Amino acid sequence: MPSDRSSSPTALLREEHQLILSVADALSRVLAVDSPGGPPAVDTVERCTTFFRLFADTCHHSKEEYLLFPALEACGMQRDAGPIAVMLYEHEQGRALVRAMVELLVQVRAGIREAESDLRTASANFVNLITSHIAKEDGILFEMADQVIEGPTCDALCAAYAELDDERYEGHSKQDLVDLAGGILEAG
Ligand SMILES: [Fe+2]
Repeated sequence: MPSDRSSSPTALLREEHQLILSVADALSRVLAVDSPGGPPAVDTVERCTTFFRLFADTCHHSKEEYLLFPALEACGMQRDAGPIAVMLYEHEQGRALVRAMVELLVQVRAGIREAESDLRTASANFVNLITSHIAKEDGILFEMADQVIEGPTCDALCAAYAELDDERYEGHSKQDLVDLAGGILEAG
């Protein structure tokens, strides 16, 4: 199996998964460390939501939903059943949880105490979801992709990944978002 990023349909995505998992782990540590009865570390949670929204969901999931999954469909996999359907469903669940976190952060900042425990719950649910989601993607779907996507199709996919990596996400480059993750990890 090819392993370097420019000759594998999944190496770059697996690498991005590791960064997403690191930030999810930092978020779970923040939730565990600050006092359960008090407000969560709002600034850190907010930086995590920005990372999950722009890096995980926009930069990373775009590569999967618009590039890798269609390439797998072209190899005969179904989009509305099986592993791709499960991954798409979980992406939607993750989006809903991050949206909830963003809304709850606004409420916590406005001093609404009841929103604090909901923010903790939504954050913990997101960490659990993204962790099991990535395990399934790495262990099942990407293993299948590595078997069936090769040659020119693989080259075209990697070139398309690189193009997406040159985009800006709400004004941020991919490197800005990697640096944002670095800052979260340093603080945690
Ligand atoms: Fe992924």
